[in-house]
Amino acid sequence: TVERTFSIIKPDATKRNLTGAINAVIEKSGLRIIGQKRVQLSEGQAEGFYAIHKERPFFRDLVTFMISGPVVVQVLEGDNAVAKYRDVMGATNPANAAPGTIRKEFAESIEANSVHGSDSQENAAREIEFFFTDQEIVG
Ligand code: CMP
Repeated sequence: TVERTFSIIKPDATKRNLTGAINAVIEKSGLRIIGQKRVQLSEGQAEGFYAIHKERPFFRDLVTFMISGPVVVQVLEGDNAVAKYRDVMGATNPANAAPGTIRKEFAESIEANSVHGSDSQENAAREIEFFFTDQEIVG
């Protein structure tokens, strides 16, 4: 079934000029980029987006990292998009990511791990709504 998921190309990747290289991996997988914009997150936006991780020890560092430079927020569409994009990204920690995945090829560390992807359809809907209006998504 055709689904949507939400993606972020993180500051470590935009700084290293990897937006196009990462999008090439996404598109090669068959996922379609149906919404995309480059934005500078505010501290409040980053805190709100990652509110589920508020009590985690890495929360403050994560927020600082996510506002350290531009990010590219994206809506991806395709068959089983949530699970498929998680496969395409690879494990959260690039040290554990499989060859050919975005994180194995490009990520620097468990924090500077180049991309975010939704972990469920419910979170995908919530995360897409956080950043995009209906008019900004063209399937
Ligand atoms: P992401 O999928 O965006 O969700 C939460 C982020 O926290 C994660 O990717 C990592 O970039 C970051 N992070 C930093 N340290 C850790 C950690 N120890 N465990 C999980 N995520 C971490």
